[in-house]
Amino acid sequence: MANGNETEPSKAPATGLSGWLEARFPGHKFVREHLTGYWAPKNFNFWYFFGSLALVVLIVQIVSGIFLAMNYTPSEEAAFASIEYIMREVEWGWLIRYMHSTGASAFFIIIYLHMFRGMLYGSYKKPRELVWLIGMLIYVLLMAEGFFGYVLPWGNMSYWGAQVIVSLFSAIPGVGDGLAEWVRGDYSISGITLNRFFALHVVALPLLLVMLVYAHIMALHEVGSNNPDGVEIKKKKRADGTPLDGIPFHPYYTYKDMVGVGVFLIIFCAVIFFAPTFGGLFLEKPNFEPANALSTPEHIAPVWYFTPYYAILRAVPDKLTGALLMGLAIVMFFFLPWLDRCKVKSIRYRGTIYKVFLGAFAVSFVALAYLGLQPAEGLYVVLARLFTVIYFAFFLLMPVYTRFEKTRPVPERVTGHA
Ligand code: HEM
Repeated sequence: MANGNETEPSKAPATGLSGWLEARFPGHKFVREHLTGYWAPKNFNFWYFFGSLALVVLIVQIVSGIFLAMNYTPSEEAAFASIEYIMREVEWGWLIRYMHSTGASAFFIIIYLHMFRGMLYGSYKKPRELVWLIGMLIYVLLMAEGFFGYVLPWGNMSYWGAQVIVSLFSAIPGVGDGLAEWVRGDYSISGITLNRFFALHVVALPLLLVMLVYAHIMALHEVGSNNPDGVEIKKKKRADGTPLDGIPFHPYYTYKDMVGVGVFLIIFCAVIFFAPTFGGLFLEKPNFEPANALSTPEHIAPVWYFTPYYAILRAVPDKLTGALLMGLAIVMFFFLPWLDRCKVKSIRYRGTIYKVFLGAFAVSFVALAYLGLQPAEGLYVVLARLFTVIYFAFFLLMPVYTRFEKTRPVPERVTGHA
């Protein structure tokens, strides 16, 4: 048994085809260890829907992506037209494309809520540091996946967005220009760049993402899930070794998660059918024009899920410092398990100081996302600087304010038990 957390249901040996399979394939063992015999805390709330939703959206993206790839042409001459062809001529092509473009935004909404849950309940703390670190690797890869995917329709924002981001490499002293050229495979963004981004987007990154998601869940099941009370359920066990405050993941959470999936699909379909561009937020207006090296869009802005970091980049006058700070804004998350010195996990029992800092961080993240969509001038830049300071203060002052935090007593068992 993997983590001493499961029970072994007494089962008569299977016969027939399932018996034959069982003797040759560890399917039954897998189900026992990760579904019927994986004991999850019984007090999961709303915030615990987003892990399974992330899995659902990952599958939606892979399946819709495969169908898009059947009609998409990754060349400078034909890419834009092939998207128009998918939208107008391919049977149900519009639906497949909107599923994929809406799915990308949905993925990031879900992941941001999933990460915020970790920060609310201290899920990154011992013993789940590795779960968090693998999660962060997934997040970074997901951003790369989103960036490469955005270039593929070869619209004008695809082109100029890629131009801005890849040119950031050239800010590195000495090797910068050579590095940017190596990434592009050309002196500026071109069909060669489009080809390699296509290969990365459809093969390399999805493969890595799926492998990392598997590792993420395996790492979680090794230590067991946290919960909204931040109580380790393995500390209180029944005579048979199962946790007092745990319930088998299947059927209890497989069924509960289906409610979340149903609600999600209603919202997802509403966006696809009634607001697929989401007012220019999910599909930006300049991307309905083909890439044009001679015509720069009025305001170059990435898709909304990158704009907090884009606002940080533009808040700094110096390009290299801006790029470094932008990278650091992402890297800070990796260190959360060690920056947070408080012994208490859940926000329910943590001190006011942490609640204030976490609230200020959340506000600054959303504000930066908004500011990144605005032109970098006047008050927008001043505000971006202010929120950048708050953003970094949350992480950098954490070892201090979490050490002296006034916490409340954590209950022995999860709240609401019989
Ligand atoms: C494709 C992306 C991802 C998928 C499919 C995924 C999937 C899951 C699933 C199924 C769970 C268990 C259910 C739940 O607790 O909600 C989980 C837990 C967790 N995930 Fe993710 N995840 C992803 C990305 C991330 C990212 C980006 C982070 C953070 C950087 C992260 C951090 C965590 C943590 C800390 C837990 C344990 C939470 C707890 O027990 O309280 N995950 N994930």
